[in-house]
Amino acid sequence: MGYRVAVVGATGNVGREMLNILAEREFPCDEIAAVASPRSTGTEIEYGESGRKLKVKNIEHFDFTGWDIALFAAGSGPTAIYAPKAASQGCVVIDNSSLYRMEPDVPLIVPEVNPEAIDGYTARNIIANPNCSTAQMVVALKPLHDRAKIKRVIVSTYQSVSGAGKAGMDELFEQTRSIFMPVGEMNEPQKFTKQIAFNVIPHIDVFLDDGSTKEEWKMVVETKKILDPKIKVQATCVRVPVFVGHSESLNIEFEKELSATEAQDILREAPGVMLVDKRENGGYITPIECVGDGATYVSRVREDPTIDNGLALWCVSDNLRKGAALNAVQIAELLGRRHLKKG
Ligand SMILES: NC(=O)c1ccc[n+]([C@@H]2O[C@H](COP(=O)([O-])OP(=O)(O)OC[C@H]3O[C@@H](n4cnc5c(N)ncnc54)[C@H](OP(=O)(O)O)[C@@H]3O)[C@@H](O)[C@H]2O)c1
Repeated sequence: MGYRVAVVGATGNVGREMLNILAEREFPCDEIAAVASPRSTGTEIEYGESGRKLKVKNIEHFDFTGWDIALFAAGSGPTAIYAPKAASQGCVVIDNSSLYRMEPDVPLIVPEVNPEAIDGYTARNIIANPNCSTAQMVVALKPLHDRAKIKRVIVSTYQSVSGAGKAGMDELFEQTRSIFMPVGEMNEPQKFTKQIAFNVIPHIDVFLDDGSTKEEWKMVVETKKILDPKIKVQATCVRVPVFVGHSESLNIEFEKELSATEAQDILREAPGVMLVDKRENGGYITPIECVGDGATYVSRVREDPTIDNGLALWCVSDNLRKGAALNAVQIAELLGRRHLKKG
């Protein structure tokens, strides 16, 4: 017997990837429901290599009773209404929004990093999936932390527009088209605060009182919750005109000495990591090459001579996959193995 799985936000960037990944990984489903807003009710979604089809159901009339798992990718507003409803109807929610991540009684999980924390899901029947930038970073940091204990991380991100949903991708596309094929004035930016085509914007999510942004704050607090509360993180999050794939430049300070060669050896064997690190032209990964893949790619591992026990590296991953949909499906697999035991 398999699971009954509802994908909420199934028409969005993350929801569509969730459906594809459930099919690719042959997640043991007896039934899948594609659920979205009333706007999409009755539209057909195609997913998986064989082009399976589902009719989208209206969240407002969806009864979660009898459904085992709900993968939510619908944003914080709708999630605040429907995730507690699903959880109270006995369906375990795995949520991609930021709503529950820092709640002490909701586990925040990256299966390669803190799988044991999932056991706490019974408190609320809700499990949180981290921010896309945090997920790929902690996958790369975990094996290095286990070996040499990380004290501090300075990270600068180069985040793709798909991290801002379908509307973010459309805005980059439309602006690019209107620069090459001008028809009247270019529309004012809607999704981003400035023109994103041929530009970079050092601002993701709202500003906080200390001058940082909420996206940067998420990287700090989520890394502490998932990996180690003692790790200090300083983040600068930047939106770049890339459709899919987030990149990060990391500078890491360790308690113990760790050479670049040993770090490369550790990363080569680490779960979820792919090391691509040839010190030659093209011997590193760029976002375009990671699209559709589940790994966190690491390149450019080198020692930082300006501090004791310092390393710098470059890390890239598909934000819709490891940053969201894949991580959520991996959580569902973990939940199945450790707790639900169907399939
Ligand atoms: N993109 C990323 O890299 C990423 C990474 C980590 C986490 N997340 C999180 O994942 C969530 C979804 O992101 P996304 O990029 O997939 O956004 P998106 O492309 O804009 O899709 C949003 C989805 O939510 C649905 N939705 C909107 N309002 C709804 C409502 N009132 N009731 C039910 N469904 C509703 C939409 O359905 P309709 O089509 O019917 O409007 C659509 O399916 C967000 O919480 C985001 O923060 C995204």
